[in-house]
Amino acid sequence: MSHRRSSFQANDLFPREIDIEICLKTLKIFQKMEGDVNCVVWDASLVLAKYLETMCQQKPDFLSSMKVLELGSGLGVVGLTAATLGAQVTLTDLPEALPLLRLNINENKTKIGSMGGYATAESLVWGDNTSEILKEEFDMIVMADCVYYEEALDPLIQTLQCLTNTILKKPTIYLTQEMRDSDIQKSLWNTFYEKLIEIFHVEKIPEEQQHANYRSSDITLLRINKK
Ligand SMILES: C[S@@+](CC[C@H](N)C(=O)[O-])C[C@H]1O[C@@H](n2cnc3c(N)ncnc32)[C@H](O)[C@@H]1O
Repeated sequence: MSHRRSSFQANDLFPREIDIEICLKTLKIFQKMEGDVNCVVWDASLVLAKYLETMCQQKPDFLSSMKVLELGSGLGVVGLTAATLGAQVTLTDLPEALPLLRLNINENKTKIGSMGGYATAESLVWGDNTSEILKEEFDMIVMADCVYYEEALDPLIQTLQCLTNTILKKPTIYLTQEMRDSDIQKSLWNTFYEKLIEIFHVEKIPEEQQHANYRSSDITLLRINKK
């Protein structure tokens, strides 16, 4: 598969630069002018990426050599940040999201490599229990803004269960979600949250522990572990 920008319409893409201050690197993330939800950078991904950076500032080995999986990566802001902070990251999404995600990995791979990190992208459709990725064990799972339609709630929980049903590692899940105003979105989140706390220990990370400039009362950040 070609990862070159030329496989997209040239005027279809526009870059967004994201500074990772603690290592003086700037990620270049290509977004699409038009497209589905996986073509733009969502605020919840910035909050989670910056939280990872904050944690690395406090504990320099927080991500180094950690095996990290991202669900619903979209354009890859969270996974690429983790990789630039030294993690070995598998970014995942629906098959149709992979060309742009891989283009973004390719665009940033020299920076990531210079920090000892690694990033690759694979398809992982929530609820697909046949995926080879589910046979691997990870130290950390990250996901931003992935709770937004009803049909995905049970498959997403199922995938989180599979990924935490591990023998050697005990992965911690970090999740951000923007709380939107509509009743449908509120009810979706409540349903997801109720299902989550049946299976996992869930801890809300207070805003004062997050990045000083990248936090919001509209965006919830959770740390989740298997019970
Ligand atoms: C709102 S976007 C968030 C993207 C990115 N995490 C961010 O915050 O910028 C939700 C992401 O979930 C992915 N997604 C939706 N349904 C999915 C499914 N059933 N399996 C895997 N990924 C899915 C979408 O393609 C999209 O990239």
